[in-house]
Amino acid sequence: MTSSSDLKFLGKQIILGVSGSIAAYKAVELLRVLVREGAAVSVVMTEAATRFVNPLTFEVLSRQPVTSNLFAAHQELLHLTLAERADLLVIAPATANVLAKCALGLADDLLSTMMLTTRCPVIIAPAMDGGMWDHPTVQLHTAVIRQRGVTVLEPEEGLLASGKVGRGRLTDQEAILSAIEARLSPRRDWVGQRVLVSAGPTQEAIDPVRFIGNRSSGKMGYAIAQAARERGAEVILVTGPTALERPHGVEVVPVLTAEDMGKALITRLAWSTVVLMAAAVADFRPRRSSQQKIKKEARTGMTLELEPTPDILETLAKQRSSQVIVGFAAETEPPLRHAEQKLKRKGIDLVVGNDVTADQCGFGSDSNAAVLVDRDGRVVELELMPKRELADRILDAIQTLSVFPAQHRPRNHE
Ligand code: PMT
Repeated sequence: MTSSSDLKFLGKQIILGVSGSIAAYKAVELLRVLVREGAAVSVVMTEAATRFVNPLTFEVLSRQPVTSNLFAAHQELLHLTLAERADLLVIAPATANVLAKCALGLADDLLSTMMLTTRCPVIIAPAMDGGMWDHPTVQLHTAVIRQRGVTVLEPEEGLLASGKVGRGRLTDQEAILSAIEARLSPRRDWVGQRVLVSAGPTQEAIDPVRFIGNRSSGKMGYAIAQAARERGAEVILVTGPTALERPHGVEVVPVLTAEDMGKALITRLAWSTVVLMAAAVADFRPRRSSQQKIKKEARTGMTLELEPTPDILETLAKQRSSQVIVGFAAETEPPLRHAEQKLKRKGIDLVVGNDVTADQCGFGSDSNAAVLVDRDGRVVELELMPKRELADRILDAIQTLSVFPAQHRPRNHE
């Protein structure tokens, strides 16, 4: 028999948002499990969702009235009271329309209004048909929402309601439940750590209007900074130019060139306990940068003379006292061999190797796959996953290193 103390979500107040997707019926089973595990669940449906599933089904199972109408809800100020009481808001399934409203801050029904009034953790499990998930607008909205700390679970690939095959199926219930568990009892296993992260590209000036740069968006480094912060670490993020929002609670140091980035990191090395170099630092810069814009007429052809930039990672490894140092290897083929070589050559503790030409990986994408190679001889292959999730897996791997300070190792590492 299950005692009440075994119930995963006992005493938790959860808002289950359901929007107008054919997958709305799957929210019924999700609700049953949440209630069985002890949660008090208030279901908020969009008007479109009520066309797919009768609200009565949710009312019976949740033993609470189901609300969708903002104006009816206003009488009891539900958009405030429910949202303030909640420990967690999970929207499953979420349509492209719901993602857009969340990203843009539109509030024209109870669910979207609650997205603005609640301060609790939010999980969104999208489901949509016909290739909509891959549309650049949907991807942009998803990226914006993730940067605000919302967990967006990737939909699965498979047969869609339209008969097409593609990515868009609501992720499975286990994935939603484990995300709920993780957000309700966040790990605080990096408390006491001081984490220095680099992210984004560097820009090396050719003249006042042109530079040598690269395709890094900063997403990988920002995800690491955010993950470390959420797990309790103090975090400084040294970042090249990106279009990303500053991660909550993280000190951000903006830089432009490889030289600036090196200085910013080296002066903060002594402060840190762990350094992660996710930035795509330029390996070469123009030997001379022109003070004036180079004129087209002056160019019958042009040769740029380049010189190497200092290797920041190697310098950090040489100057460290007890810091754990993690580097990346951006490769255009399977990265294992290169990652192993970089680990030795740079004298660091762990290398995250990624093939930046693989589908949905590397520069600019929201997901990535990697191989982790560490100084203790371990090799871990990590499949394609959101960068935010990969960030957590990298932090988990760092905690298992023999050089990671013993008092900070997790007691029950999975
Ligand atoms: O920013 P995103 O769009 O999210 O993309 C993520 C990413 C592809 C940039 C990231 O996953 C990644 O691979 N970062 C490292 C990119 C890189 O410069 O790799 P590299 O193999 O050229 O360099 C190896 C390591 O040395 C890196 O940790 C790099 O930060 C560091 N380095 C490189 C040159 C230099 N002058 N100094 C350095 O410290």
